[in-house]
Amino acid sequence: MRSVSRSKMRTLSKSGLLLIILLCAFGTDLSKADRVEVIELANGWMITNQNGSMTKDNVKLPSGVYSAFYNEEVLNSFNDVRLRWLAYDNWTYSNNFQLDLAHYKYVRHFNLTFHGIDTVAEIRLNHQLVGRTNNMFVRYSYDVSDLLQADNLLEVEIKSPVLAALAEARKVEVPPACPVSRYHGECHMNMLRKMQASFSWDWGLAAPSMGLWKSVNLELYEVALIRDVDVDVSRNETHWNMHVTCYLDTGGGRDFYAELIFYLVELLDKPVVIDTFTKHPISHLAPVIVFDQAVPIKSVTAWWPNGYGEQKLYPLHLTLNAWLDIAGPEQRAKTVSQKSLNVGFRTIELIEDQIDSGNSFLFRVNGVDIFMKGSNYIPAHILPEWGQNQSLVGHLLQSAKDANMNMIRVWGGGVYETDFFYDKADRLGLLIWQDMMFACAMYPVGETFLDSVREEVIQNAKRLSHHPSVAIFVTNNENEAALVQNWYQTYTDLDRFKAEYRELYLANVIHELKLVSHKSRPQPLVSSPSNGRESEKDNFISDDPQNNNYGDVHFYDYMRDAWNPYVYPRARFVSEYGFQSLPQAFSWQRTKGSEDLLELMEHRQHHPMGMLPITQLVHRHLPLPLPEDEPYPEALIYFSQISQAMATKVETELYRSLRDTQHRTMGALYWQLNDVWVAPSWSGIDIFGNWKLLHYWARDFLAPIAIVALYEAESESLNISLICDQLEVDTENLKVVANVHLWSQLLPRNSTEWSVTLRPNGVQYDKVIPLNSLLHDELNKYNSYLEFQLYRSNELLSRTYYFPSSITAAKGVGDPELDYDISTRYCSTGSTTVRTHLSITIRVSRPAIFVYLELLSSYRHKFSENGFMLTVPVYVVHLEVEASICLNIRYLRKKHIKVLTVNQFMPHLASN
Ligand SMILES: *[C@@H]1O[C@H](CO)[C@@H](O)[C@H](O)[C@H]1NC(C)=O
Ligand SMILES: *[C@@H]1O[C@H](CO)[C@@H](O)[C@H](O)[C@H]1NC(C)=O
Ligand SMILES: *[C@@H]1O[C@H](CO)[C@@H](O)[C@H](O)[C@H]1NC(C)=O
Ligand SMILES: *[C@@H]1O[C@H](CO)[C@@H](O)[C@H](O)[C@H]1NC(C)=O
Ligand SMILES: *[C@@H]1O[C@H](CO)[C@@H](O)[C@H](O)[C@H]1NC(C)=O
Ligand SMILES: *[C@@H]1O[C@H](CO)[C@@H](O)[C@H](O)[C@H]1NC(C)=O
Ligand SMILES: *[C@@H]1O[C@H](CO)[C@@H](O)[C@H](O)[C@H]1NC(C)=O
Repeated sequence: MRSVSRSKMRTLSKSGLLLIILLCAFGTDLSKADRVEVIELANGWMITNQNGSMTKDNVKLPSGVYSAFYNEEVLNSFNDVRLRWLAYDNWTYSNNFQLDLAHYKYVRHFNLTFHGIDTVAEIRLNHQLVGRTNNMFVRYSYDVSDLLQADNLLEVEIKSPVLAALAEARKVEVPPACPVSRYHGECHMNMLRKMQASFSWDWGLAAPSMGLWKSVNLELYEVALIRDVDVDVSRNETHWNMHVTCYLDTGGGRDFYAELIFYLVELLDKPVVIDTFTKHPISHLAPVIVFDQAVPIKSVTAWWPNGYGEQKLYPLHLTLNAWLDIAGPEQRAKTVSQKSLNVGFRTIELIEDQIDSGNSFLFRVNGVDIFMKGSNYIPAHILPEWGQNQSLVGHLLQSAKDANMNMIRVWGGGVYETDFFYDKADRLGLLIWQDMMFACAMYPVGETFLDSVREEVIQNAKRLSHHPSVAIFVTNNENEAALVQNWYQTYTDLDRFKAEYRELYLANVIHELKLVSHKSRPQPLVSSPSNGRESEKDNFISDDPQNNNYGDVHFYDYMRDAWNPYVYPRARFVSEYGFQSLPQAFSWQRTKGSEDLLELMEHRQHHPMGMLPITQLVHRHLPLPLPEDEPYPEALIYFSQISQAMATKVETELYRSLRDTQHRTMGALYWQLNDVWVAPSWSGIDIFGNWKLLHYWARDFLAPIAIVALYEAESESLNISLICDQLEVDTENLKVVANVHLWSQLLPRNSTEWSVTLRPNGVQYDKVIPLNSLLHDELNKYNSYLEFQLYRSNELLSRTYYFPSSITAAKGVGDPELDYDISTRYCSTGSTTVRTHLSITIRVSRPAIFVYLELLSSYRHKFSENGFMLTVPVYVVHLEVEASICLNIRYLRKKHIKVLTVNQFMPHLASN
């Protein structure tokens, strides 16, 4: 038994205090007010399984059964299978807490509010049933005023999600039943409103989580509190208008009176009071306060996506005074509730104009057509309680920004992310394409299921819609394509599945989404991929949702040569595409048990074709040793990363280069930014936050100014495009330098240059160069390769390479005699970590191909570049390592850095 700490409403942040000071200054005395009080039940939980054989106490929220009992072990070795029994047991979270009821004798309502229960649960307070839950994305709140005592026992009994899903599946058959056996997954994920990927995915383990994955609070209030605030921004020639909707939660079934005080920092010189409600009570059935506030355009700095301008945010503070009696706020029975959030002023349109053979599909932000470049986000961890780890999430989003991304798609098989995630996206200028959580399945449409879905959609939409980063809502991932392409045998009863599809997404999900801000962003899309507006003609089920001339497409092809741009679709917007690779060797070491490494890789390779897509692509270009040869796993890891990076580079560069052609391609979001475990996957960043070569390369191929040289097979030439995402650009003194390199020699063998120009926010199609104009006489496609550099005066803006033959077939590659040493430069102290800055000086005597650096340490770190061509004798790479202390050279030595080159794997090295 223990007493709980009392805390003030959590939204009362530093800025909240500022507001109080301000309000006092304006003569409103809040000191006597009955402020909403929130008691967090954050600590002291106990978890037990059904028969009591497993218990864990002193558990803190957020929590889940897997992490509570097994911690990081969950992701190790074969534990994805070994720990599965957890998900077949039932688990009870219990909490003993005391409440000084005398102290709270004037409080009218005590609500127990669960911000996230995963998933199927029964809640009891002092042995009385309080409620049942079945949706991890929904907040459940119960008025428990009549049940509370001085000593309380709260119990949340969580049922096995696997068995709960099975029980639902016995009532109605909704495909797919089970994932393919390679996933080692669980069946019927679609029957539960739970993170769909927790039953397994092609990139992830099954860990059917259970727990209290968000906070549990006692909310004490008299009348009502502010739950969410939607700010719908729009503009005319002179003003920005904020259409503000304050969603209140009340209780007790009585209408009430209220005044709302709001203050917009920097834009309003004093708080504004909305009190038109004094005379007219607010209905308890739909308690909202709606008002408009205009601000002159000239006093506002607009919010822009990353790379286009500032991410200016204006804090907005709201204070609600609510009371029950018309006599006014001096009466008893009143509440003061506060909320603070940030407002960003921007417009976003989705332009789907009719153009040649179809419709455009592009995002226009603040009137500017912007090419969306980025990737797809899966949960930061397979366990939802850890997927909200701010260090992890912050690192991923910062990495996205560092790689010049401006859009991230929160994919529909994960979770609606935390407020921290969207706040961070607002600050970093990452637009969010927000799927609702439905992915790769048909779904039930029973009444209970739909009721739960509507609540889920409206709660999350109200929570997220004020964020300037949230660009669009989309109801599902690939379910339209799955339906019409018969992925899950829907042809057996196509009419039923079409009707159910429309009922779920159109009549329910979209219906709810349309209730939130609609001027701030385009109308929701129904599916990704889809034909966008065009699919309306088909009542949102099109025969070919992947039509290149409409909407967005997803594209994967593992059979053809992915380093060749001819493979790829000329589509309007490619919202998924990508290639697998393996995370670095040190990460495998961290996750491996006593088993053989290749065996573990094979177990975690969920792709139906196994490693074949990786090895096949690697074999086309790189000298992969035979599996029985000693460095095989190391070579496979390294080559898979080169291969993935190169394929994604070519594909992305093609999409970027097509923007000003008749194809009007205006978006490229590759699959996938991050990982949930150490496994073969499509990610650019591993579960530990290490950047794969792809992410290092992405920073260059997504750069605001980039030179692109794409092979045109028909004319045996290279098509040079100069891409510029900047709205204003200096076009003086620009030139392209084309270098021909011999594999056998450092420094270019021959060079030619020409002056060029850039087109602001567009692509300059520069020239098409026949290969034989660069490669002739003794320079040929086997002994040479090409480098194209874009310069402004002497400043290198961008570079790219073209390898005319497979690297395996290259002639003249020698031993680079690579050597390196490390020196510490300095340490810099951040708010939570110390960064150690080191230099790695690399020396070679011959060209080194795709030099790969790996830090053999679990410190989070970043090299200044990785996977680069080294064609000069001495080269310095910088390394930044985050730790709690300044790491001098005693901690980080040469042996902590592994260097690989393709040269060392070449079957025959040339000598001089
Ligand atoms: C209790 O449950 C655990 C886990 O499900 C199981 O391994 C164990 O055999 C059970 N013990 C008894 C006595 O039933
Ligand atoms: C979990 O609860 C379900 C439903 O109440 C029950 O059928 C099942 O036997 C329980 N599981 C265990 C391991 O006790
Ligand atoms: C408290 O719970 C009741 C349901 O028991 C609900 O109607 C009410 O809106 C809740 N209050 C808040 C502030 O969420
Ligand atoms: C623009 O909005 C402001 C504020 O709502 C309003 O006063 C003004 O009349 C509007 N101007 C036009 C041209 O509609
Ligand atoms: C969050 O992640 C970081 C980095 O992986 C880790 O060090 C930290 O312990 C995690 N925090 C929690 C609360 O799990
Ligand atoms: C060069 O690339 C641009 C953009 O992709 C394309 O429009 C043009 O047709 C290409 N030129 C040739 C000769 O293929
Ligand atoms: C070097 O490049 C120039 C210009 O393209 C060309 O005229 C010359 O023949 C090249 N030299 C060799 C050795 O290829």
